[in-house]
Amino acid sequence: MPPHDPHSYTDLSQARIEHIAFRLEVDFEERRIHGRASYRLDRPCRGPLDLDTRGLDILAVHSAGAPLRWDLGADEPILGQRMRLADLGGRREVEIQFRTRPEAGALQWLTPEQTGGGQHPYLFTQCQPINARTVFPCQDSPSVRFTYEAEVLAPTPLTAVMAAAVRGAEDAGPARRFRFSMPQPIPSYLFALAVGDITRRDLGPRTAVFTEPYLADDAAWEFAQTEQMLAEGERLFGPYDWERYDMLVLPPSFPYGGMENPRLTFMTPTIVAGNRALVNLIAHELAHSWTGNLVTNATWEDFWLNEGWTTYAERRIIEVLEGPEGANLRAQTGRNTMFRDMRNFGMDSDPTRLKFSQKGIDPESVVSYVPYEKGYSFLVALERVVGRSAFDRFAREYIGDHRFQSLTTEAFVDYLQRKLPAAARAVNLRAWLYEPGFPDDAPSFPSSLADAVSERLFDYQEQGRLPQREQVADWTSSQTYLFLQMLPRPLPLEDCRTLDQILDMAHTRIVVNLSNFLNISIRSGYQEVLPRVEALVGSVGRMFVIEPVFRALATTPWSRPLARPLFERYRERHHPITVSTIEGVLHREGL
Ligand code: BES
Ligand code: ZN
Repeated sequence: MPPHDPHSYTDLSQARIEHIAFRLEVDFEERRIHGRASYRLDRPCRGPLDLDTRGLDILAVHSAGAPLRWDLGADEPILGQRMRLADLGGRREVEIQFRTRPEAGALQWLTPEQTGGGQHPYLFTQCQPINARTVFPCQDSPSVRFTYEAEVLAPTPLTAVMAAAVRGAEDAGPARRFRFSMPQPIPSYLFALAVGDITRRDLGPRTAVFTEPYLADDAAWEFAQTEQMLAEGERLFGPYDWERYDMLVLPPSFPYGGMENPRLTFMTPTIVAGNRALVNLIAHELAHSWTGNLVTNATWEDFWLNEGWTTYAERRIIEVLEGPEGANLRAQTGRNTMFRDMRNFGMDSDPTRLKFSQKGIDPESVVSYVPYEKGYSFLVALERVVGRSAFDRFAREYIGDHRFQSLTTEAFVDYLQRKLPAAARAVNLRAWLYEPGFPDDAPSFPSSLADAVSERLFDYQEQGRLPQREQVADWTSSQTYLFLQMLPRPLPLEDCRTLDQILDMAHTRIVVNLSNFLNISIRSGYQEVLPRVEALVGSVGRMFVIEPVFRALATTPWSRPLARPLFERYRERHHPITVSTIEGVLHREGL
């Protein structure tokens, strides 16, 4: 069988991991997890078994109580090292003892000062796309699923949480032992653990929020609509198969907006903005419970199947909360962000395609809004051919028929051609899926909320009239976001200053809007924002927020010399993924 996944040593002709029992000891002094994992395979294993590892120390391997031979291959830059286990002689069980390294790509170890609460250290994982292999040896391909149980030893008084069911906790000397089990089979990238000063607030019968104590009340308010969204998701996409939907709000350095770890989504603390403006992020991660976690992309080349479908599901949930006008407004800002990413990569470049060969390419380096928004537009194009109710039936069936399975883009096309032949014929599948750029006949997303913003932009661009305070007073933060996205840059300095006041940018808690405003300000030479730039990149780890700011700093003559020193001042605080992304931006600009 040819290698099916360019980002993994997994050989699908071999046995697959079916279940793992973990014993993990979290050591903040050494910044290591000391681990033991007992694997059960899906069939008797003869011949070698290949696993993924990267920067992982392997200490011993046993099968049926006796040592088993194993070796590690050459260390490849993206893949890491293949771990090859010798013939298991027809057995299905093997145990590996290992420990992580302090620089493991999936782990961030925070000092107390780096947390929101400031009192205790914190550890969290981020395994998607290919970092699980830095935590434990595994078939680190989204096409392999396993269940697991885990015992996690964490120093008192810290709490361990996992994207799994809680089975209990007890004192164990100077530590506490937390027990979990994950009865639903997951791909390795959905393995997740966090340890810190973590408390819990119930939101509804199936939903709760976990956070550092200082944020608990605010987070509970911000997330109050979650139970309703869960019910909406079930109405649209079928039964919720994961029993609970809890959320963990992470410390500020969390590099993403959210990560859909099953049963326990990980969230940026910037979502707690005091106005529920970022509910789409909850809707998005919740929607992954169906699209992504239940029906999973077979490889990272098929990432759009996860994110395009989830963006579609997210907007269907948002439509119920904010109406079609609100959902379409968000679709417009999403598409603008996609075009920004396409321009950054080059309009003809591979990452503007929904599917392209990623052999030799780090999947993290090509993450962008393209799979989200081009994928979303493609699905809306299909929906508009057959109409809502036929498409809804198709979506529910697609999910029902692929529960706990992975599929490729090509398998999706086959399924589409069988189930919705009219739609498959009416749209140009090849252009949508495999060609670069963006189709001219893509669906548009009319919204009166967006039209109101366009009028103010027209006033400004055609008549040089900036909006009056009253004209923007009732805007939602998404409208402000669209306005900021569409403003030309650079702007005259005076206009930056006026907008700063009219939009009350000094007090906004919507950091994505602030990020956009700072981007404009830097490019316009509005240097008064510098302290706010420093405060933002020093306190927010979400890459989507700070990367554009560094891009602006690095490409504008007056700020160019400031970019590298600014980054160096805060490098230590940031997640390894954020550090390498910002390094990439500075490096490409010759800094
Ligand atoms: N699964 C992604 C986050 C991710 C993507 C992690 C690629 C690692 C590699 C998550 O569901 C996501 O899409 N987050 C977005 C949310 C937004 C689109 C609402 C984010 O982090 O901004
Ligand atoms: Zn997503």
